[in-house]
Amino acid sequence: MAFPPAFLDELTARNPIADVVGQYVNLKRSGSNLFGLCPFHGEKTASFSVSPDKGIYYCFGCHKGGSVINFMMEIEGLSYPDAVRSLAKRAGMEVPEDEQYQSRYRQQERLWALHKEAARFYHSQLYAPGGAEALRYAQERGMPKAILTKFGIGYAPDHWTALVDALRKKGYTEQELRDSGLVTVSRKNGSLFDRFRDRLMFPIIDVRGNVIGFGGRILSNQDKNAAKYLNSPETLIFNKRKNLFALNLAKKSKQGYMILVEGYMDAIALHQFGFDCAVASLGTALTEDGAALLSRYTDQVVLIYDGDTAGQNATRRAIPILEKAGLQVKVLQMRDAKDPDEFLKKYGADRFKILLEESSNRVEYQLGAILKKYDLREDDQKVKYLQETAELICTLGSSVQREVYGGRVAELAKISPEAMKLEVSRAYKRRLAREKKQQEKIDLSPARNLQPKSRSIRYDNMKSAMAEELVLSQALREPALLDQTRDLRPEMFSSQLLGRVFDQMLKRHRQGLEVSVGGLTDLTAEETAHIAGIAQRQEGPVNEQAFQDCIRTIQEEYQASSAKTEDDLMALRNKLKQSKGYQG
Ligand code: UTP
Ligand code: MN
Repeated sequence: MAFPPAFLDELTARNPIADVVGQYVNLKRSGSNLFGLCPFHGEKTASFSVSPDKGIYYCFGCHKGGSVINFMMEIEGLSYPDAVRSLAKRAGMEVPEDEQYQSRYRQQERLWALHKEAARFYHSQLYAPGGAEALRYAQERGMPKAILTKFGIGYAPDHWTALVDALRKKGYTEQELRDSGLVTVSRKNGSLFDRFRDRLMFPIIDVRGNVIGFGGRILSNQDKNAAKYLNSPETLIFNKRKNLFALNLAKKSKQGYMILVEGYMDAIALHQFGFDCAVASLGTALTEDGAALLSRYTDQVVLIYDGDTAGQNATRRAIPILEKAGLQVKVLQMRDAKDPDEFLKKYGADRFKILLEESSNRVEYQLGAILKKYDLREDDQKVKYLQETAELICTLGSSVQREVYGGRVAELAKISPEAMKLEVSRAYKRRLAREKKQQEKIDLSPARNLQPKSRSIRYDNMKSAMAEELVLSQALREPALLDQTRDLRPEMFSSQLLGRVFDQMLKRHRQGLEVSVGGLTDLTAEETAHIAGIAQRQEGPVNEQAFQDCIRTIQEEYQASSAKTEDDLMALRNKLKQSKGYQG
């Protein structure tokens, strides 16, 4: 997948990064940079920077960064080619024909069409004679016809090739059928048969309205061997980690928040009872991608997972993931029913609304979880309860919050608010001491701070790597410096990544192309962000002497590392010293 470099350069030039980012982030100028609140993580002070000169963005908080193309990928959740296409469209440019991309896109379009066809087929089967039992099941579970239509719910017949036959008749090829994930290939003779049989079918629809997969439920809970829900496998168009069920509907909601549940049926019931902002994760725990997707449509989420232990654990895991995506989290504690679907059908929307209104925020949820662990009638357990709650309360930023929650705990434990306040301040002091110790540890090993944030880019030779970073950052600022690097070869770099980047910069410079982070290719998002971080470091004016010193350091370290014995090493050091003497 390659676009011509010249096209990409023009694309970057015609989409100034400050303009593009400015459509998403409120930016304020400060020196040669612009700053704003990072759209990729929750923050109150602006650590997200944009450098119009260098054509990059970089967040000093979460270390995301890159070119205008990376920004579009990240913020819109687009693939690289889709980000390029969207920027081309923005600038009124034509995208050069790219065989591979075109064919991949065509393939996707065929799969979307195939899925739409499959959804139609399944839906029609619900009302066919063979679907009578499925329809009865749907009705027993309280789904009116309007809801069956709204969600396009259907029935996969109890037949080996019902869908395969229907799709073949519509002209889909064997290969397309295999790629769809909706068929299984017989191991015996390679023939195709339906993946979903005798199941109630829930189409999964993405935010653009494409049917991308299905979930299928068995019609009874009798058969303990069959999976209750079977889902589409990962395909060219379906990634269950990156999509949420019913988001296509919920994204239009005017509620100003989203409800996140565990099951298809829960999301459907919520919509049915008027809570049009409900979505469900797809047969997996909530992922970072799922949270990021959600954060594009809301900044507040109410989590409603099942009341059982598994649900509680899932809740505990989901909270930090959602918060990391910048979402404010509330938790609704399910009671009197197993899940929202069951609750709504038993007690109705009004009672659910009450639950929703009292749905607690994260602190209350955590306090509740601690309370469950202890029996407050036992003195020793009460002490532990107070300590643990104090640990939590002392992390709260505002004194009002600390007072409110401290007071609540005190009341439960039947101690005075003053005693609780003391407990909290003790916990606070303990925490400070702990943090101080940790900070000292970090300060004592400065090398650790300089290590790239991402594990995949760790430096083996810190001394050389620091010199390599400086060479890159200076050359990105002043490409003419690249004319003075004749004695520096990419393989001399101790960091394979930095060497690769240096090589690309050199080649572009020699071809008369612009040297910038945006011009780099074949880097992962993490690698790009790391390079953007290097480019964005504030390092005074370009200094030729320092630049040359860095080159020498890289050469020395390279030669030292390739010297085999101690003797070689000594001889080399001496030789370098001498040559230094001559030049200096
Ligand atoms: P639940 O078993 O809680 O589903 O699984 P539910 O929605 O309450 O199901 P009903 O009410 O009995 O119909 C929650 C979610 O976990 C996934 C599905 O996405 C389901 O909606 N799941 C569950 C599977 O993928 N496979 C399974 O076998 C079970
Ligand atoms: Mn259920």
